[in-house]
Amino acid sequence: MISGSSLILILNMSVTAQANVPPASAPAVTETAALPAIELPAAEKTGGMPLMDALSKRATSRAFDAKDLPAQQLSNALWAAFGVNRPDGKRTAPSARNWQETDIYVLLKQGAYAYDATAHRLNPVLGDDIRALGATQAFAHEAPVTLVFVADLAKTGDPIAAATAMLAAMDTGFISQNVYLYCASAGLATGVRGMVDRDALGKRLGLRETQRITAAQSIGYPKAAAPE
Ligand SMILES: Cc1cc2nc3c(=O)[nH]c(=O)nc-3n(C[C@H](O)[C@H](O)[C@H](O)COP(=O)(O)O)c2cc1C
Repeated sequence: MISGSSLILILNMSVTAQANVPPASAPAVTETAALPAIELPAAEKTGGMPLMDALSKRATSRAFDAKDLPAQQLSNALWAAFGVNRPDGKRTAPSARNWQETDIYVLLKQGAYAYDATAHRLNPVLGDDIRALGATQAFAHEAPVTLVFVADLAKTGDPIAAATAMLAAMDTGFISQNVYLYCASAGLATGVRGMVDRDALGKRLGLRETQRITAAQSIGYPKAAAPE
């Protein structure tokens, strides 16, 4: 059994494991200006499956079809994850002290992007397919979309406190569960992963010293169930 203090230590270790990631500027194009931003269609904010039905279907998938996800479903998933749902800029997931320190990077076949929740847009980061770096497990390499949750501890009140690492990890958990529930509702496959190559992925994404990868989560159609 893991004690409370051990749990805090583990979380703290997991978010400090990237000390050698070089500092970089805010999420932006780092390697190519040829990769355009993606203006997402407005998310569908009504309807879907009744909540209790979605909870009944929520599950981790480890088999994804390679077929691309339509822009509408990607838009819905990102808004469900951590979109803006109120005029004051607050979000679909709670955030410790409303730090909103978590950024969602989106790994697609054509490149890596950072989700701008206010503009509901994907800003280009890198014009390479680095989805494989978002998973140490081969089953996830097929998935058309991998979300990478990145906590910027500089946006928190006390970046070095052990409690901050724990709160940032919790914030990722809420976001991840929103994705799970949207996917259950939409008949999509998804699975969160703590097993990510944080050093390699952090370097390719150009993360700053204060940015920590908390988890990754793939989304796609269930294998062999994708529509033609
Ligand atoms: C914080 C966290 C990290 C996880 N990391 C991985 C992972 O690296 N690889 C994986 O296959 N599943 C991972 N999972 C999924 C769990 O294995 C899964 O939730 C668990 O087996 C229960 O299955 P269910 O989600 O279908 O209920 C993770 C889940 C959580 C909450």
